[in-house]
Amino acid sequence: MLTSNSKDKERSLSFLCCWYLGRRRVAMLLLLSLAFVVFVLGSYTINKESSNSPNIHQSIETIEFGINQTPLSRELSSFYTGDSNNDQTTRGSDVDIIHPPPSLPSHHPCDSFSFPPPPPPVLRRPGPRPCPVCYLSPEEALAHMPKHPFESPVLKNLTFIHEESPVKREEGQGGSEFGGYPSLEDRTNSFDIKESMTVHCGFVKGTKPGHQTGFDIDEDILHEMDQFHEVIVASAIFGKYDLIQEPVNISEMARKNIPFYMFVDEETQSYLKNTSSYTEDNKRVGLWRIIVAHNVPYTDARRNGKIPKLLLHRLFPNVKYSIWVDAKLQLVVDPYQILERFLWRTNSSLAISKHYRRFDVFVEAEANKAARKYDNASIDYQVEFYKKEGLTPYTDAKLPITSDVPEGCTIIREHIPITNLFTCVWFNEVDRFTSRDQLSFAVARDKIREKVEWSINMFLDCERRNFVKQVYHRDVLMNMKPPRASSSKVLPEPLPLPRGKSVGGRANTGKKSPGQRGKRRHRKVSAGGRNMR
Ligand SMILES: *[C@@H]1O[C@H](CO)[C@@H](O)[C@H](O)[C@H]1NC(C)=O
Ligand SMILES: *[C@@H]1O[C@H](CO)[C@@H](O)[C@H](O)[C@H]1NC(C)=O
Ligand SMILES: *[C@@H]1O[C@H](CO)[C@@H](O)[C@H](O)[C@H]1NC(C)=O
Ligand SMILES: *[C@@H]1O[C@H](CO)[C@@H](O)[C@H](O)[C@H]1NC(C)=O
Ligand SMILES: *[C@@H]1O[C@H](CO)[C@@H](O)[C@H](O)[C@H]1NC(C)=O
Repeated sequence: MLTSNSKDKERSLSFLCCWYLGRRRVAMLLLLSLAFVVFVLGSYTINKESSNSPNIHQSIETIEFGINQTPLSRELSSFYTGDSNNDQTTRGSDVDIIHPPPSLPSHHPCDSFSFPPPPPPVLRRPGPRPCPVCYLSPEEALAHMPKHPFESPVLKNLTFIHEESPVKREEGQGGSEFGGYPSLEDRTNSFDIKESMTVHCGFVKGTKPGHQTGFDIDEDILHEMDQFHEVIVASAIFGKYDLIQEPVNISEMARKNIPFYMFVDEETQSYLKNTSSYTEDNKRVGLWRIIVAHNVPYTDARRNGKIPKLLLHRLFPNVKYSIWVDAKLQLVVDPYQILERFLWRTNSSLAISKHYRRFDVFVEAEANKAARKYDNASIDYQVEFYKKEGLTPYTDAKLPITSDVPEGCTIIREHIPITNLFTCVWFNEVDRFTSRDQLSFAVARDKIREKVEWSINMFLDCERRNFVKQVYHRDVLMNMKPPRASSSKVLPEPLPLPRGKSVGGRANTGKKSPGQRGKRRHRKVSAGGRNMR
């Protein structure tokens, strides 16, 4: 549209030129008019910023980087891109305003980094794309690993609820056999940050995560998962949904010291046996160490995927830092470089990218409904619940928070009590409501922030695209129909729960009624458009 428009202008301008001035000056005037068109289109893009067109928002992002030319110490990366009427330079990520960047030994090598000028608008491709990120070398990055753990505010000792037979007290109560059925009172307590807390965090059955808890893992590997690692990278494929992506640009040092773990279910395992170098003996595909999860608790592959994504600290209790990468993404930057850039340099304990154009939960919910990500009734129920609790649309008043909607396909974090609590309560929201974790992220975050000073580094989506490359889900790649959950039943709208009714929700009492197991398994998401998140 823009391009043909500009060509028209160009043509009529050059016609006028010929008419009045003759051929001699045509070349120069043509150049001038082209410059003029470029300028006009540039301001047009800026003025249209409040529209919802993705490519326009993305170009704004690029324009700002060009105009501001800020050094990286100003965290140029974290401009908020949703609203044109505000001074962009006052906006930083929520991390930077609360905690100024750590004063690293005088000059950080990236201090002088600035974004290159954006390409002229006529040359821009539509849609979200990567932007430049200044990394240290892997060796330098490792040297910047903090000497001491990030101090967990208030919370120092986090333990997890264990119950052999989780009791579902009411029909329609959120939760599952795997995550338990926390009452609303339990939920409230899990946000009441104290020095010592015990919360629901999946794996409620069995003596340890992965051992008779559902999501069961072979004993030899379970033992390996107990070992200490400074850094791990993790991902998962359930329902042979994705193809394994081999990470690239990984330093020798990282290959040696950082294990890459890929969780798969049995179905995906047998697919790997047929189609890759995987065998029962080596349990590897390239860099990835394959971990098979047996008895996965949910029929919806995407719910199973939330277990390793949000509960890595339970599966790997002795790991300091983790990078989660959805399996549809290929890692193309060294993990040490990513950790240095997004955690250590900004003094953060958890980093996640924001959605490239939506930053309001209510808007996100509508988009999820329109894209048929989940049944409308369940989404409405969840959002109504949050609204009654006080969730409001995103506005500037929430600054320094720059977004309520994450692009959660990567999570970079240090495993400390407060981040572990955050991902536990986030998982509990996902288990209580829809599996759309971008709807519950802000609620989990803000309820913790009400009590303690802690923040999440929400960086730009274009920066995320710098270190992970999107590949298509297997079904798209192979032009196949996406696998469907085995049940076609739609999650019934949960009934509103009376508050404060059940006390002692973590008691290890109560009998499991026959047929109770698996009742909550029948959550189904309508297929289609799975590639979008
Ligand atoms: C990093 O943040 C923590 C708490 O959030 C604070 O105590 C510490 O002083 C900060 N460190 C630096 C170097 O800014
Ligand atoms: C942490 O809390 C648990 C459960 O309340 C308690 O048993 C344990 O002793 C505590 N650990 C420390 C180090 O305080
Ligand atoms: C590896 O990193 C370099 C720059 O650091 C980048 O140009 C290249 O595209 C990366 N390789 C792949 C396969 O993405
Ligand atoms: C793997 O190959 C075997 C034998 O060729 C076949 O029976 C089986 O269905 C295949 N499994 C998968 C998951 O493709
Ligand atoms: C769900 O809501 C969306 C947007 O509000 C609407 O487009 C769609 O038709 C609804 N789907 C059903 C099944 O009602």
